Amino acid sequence: MIFFMASNNWKSFLVPYEQAVEELKIKLKSIRTEYRRKNEYSPVEFVTGRVKEVASILEKANKFEIPIARVAYELEDIAGIRIMCQFVDDIDIVVQILRKRRDMQILYEKDYVKGVKKSGYRSYHMIIKYQVNMAGGPVEILAEFQIRTLAMNFWATIEHSLNYKYKQKIPDNLKVKLKSAADAAFKLDEEMLEIKDEIKDAQKLFEVKSDVISTIMSKIINLKTIDRVLESTRYEKTLNKLIEDGEVWELNNLLFAINKDIEKFKDN
Ligand code: GTP
Ligand code: MG
Repeated sequence: MIFFMASNNWKSFLVPYEQAVEELKIKLKSIRTEYRRKNEYSPVEFVTGRVKEVASILEKANKFEIPIARVAYELEDIAGIRIMCQFVDDIDIVVQILRKRRDMQILYEKDYVKGVKKSGYRSYHMIIKYQVNMAGGPVEILAEFQIRTLAMNFWATIEHSLNYKYKQKIPDNLKVKLKSAADAAFKLDEEMLEIKDEIKDAQKLFEVKSDVISTIMSKIINLKTIDRVLESTRYEKTLNKLIEDGEVWELNNLLFAINKDIEKFKDN
């Protein structure tokens, strides 16, 4: 049974939603953490979440003539979670991951990635039922996932603020511009997808490099602590040069040399 509002107490009505958003944010962020720990590419770039403001709940309930007592059943986005991906095909991977979860029940999905909205809006939506354990026992709430690329998010955020400014009545000339910006965002996603492997390789290389660099830095500090000031200054200079234009193998050679020095001087 879905949790509903007793009396007009919005603050306590929203408590399980706040709880759900916090939990879901942590759970979805940890998908990213898991991939990163395994040194793998993550289809999740970042996650945000919010609980709808009471004023917006009232406004929406009013617009759709939803009685306050039905709000928990009929307003599906009181708890909202956004999952941002780097590439369009990551969206599908995220959807597959979510479908396998046992801690939520998917009620329905809407694919505005394939079926773009008239406004130009693109995102993949999922409405879920989610159980939160409150002090008084378990309660179920509805939540909305919006899964989108960074480009889709950029466009939707801008369009949303314009809708807010013009109170849902964006002037026609601006609408045309927004539509063409949506096309540009779509094209950006397409083009990025074409060079996805290239970008992923570059990001991977960057990570490998920064890993080696931080190891080298701590080794240099190591040398200093065993009073090898001359050597450590020399290595520091080499490192600075390599940070600018060194290859991974050159950094690895440097690390190898420092390690040998540490071994040599350790017991003296
Ligand atoms: P609601 O009236 O909010 O339910 O929108 P809807 O029924 O037209 O679309 P849907 O329920 O599928 O999507 C709900 C949410 O998606 C909205 O609350 C927005 O966050 C987002 N959304 C849907 N359409 C648009 C749009 O054209 N522009 C932007 N910026 N966001 C949109
Ligand atoms: Mg709707």
